[in-house]
Amino acid sequence: MLTDTLKTLLATAYALSIKAQNFHWNVEGPDFPQYHDFFGNYYEEVYGNTIDKLAEIIRQLDSYTPGSILRYAELSQIEDQTKIPRAELMMQELYIDNEKLLAMWKEMFPMAEQENQQGIADFIASRIDAHGKHAWMLRSILKKERA
Ligand SMILES: [Fe+2]
Repeated sequence: MLTDTLKTLLATAYALSIKAQNFHWNVEGPDFPQYHDFFGNYYEEVYGNTIDKLAEIIRQLDSYTPGSILRYAELSQIEDQTKIPRAELMMQELYIDNEKLLAMWKEMFPMAEQENQQGIADFIASRIDAHGKHAWMLRSILKKERA
């Protein structure tokens, strides 16, 4: 069912944006300014371009949209982080979670097309694009310097 998958995506994207915000607030180390900004841009991009739009798409499809912390925790497909990892571990974790969400969006795309939901497919394509760009940046940050 299209709406069930969209609800899972909403919860996962929300959880990931909160995690990036947690990292934005709590990251420490010599690269603090870059990391603080990077995590800030990440959560703002994901939050701003996914959450409300996706929640309203679920309503357009005549289903109710989940809107509680408890439901998001139940539905989210990424692991919650209650600790404060070191900066590099934060980056690695965000990379893994970003890949997970990207894969979920990619799985969703043919489902939307199959149901003749071109508008929704368009939105999904824009999210695939955005998370692909995030993946590139995260990969580049994590790359070790050549010896
Ligand atoms: Fe901030």
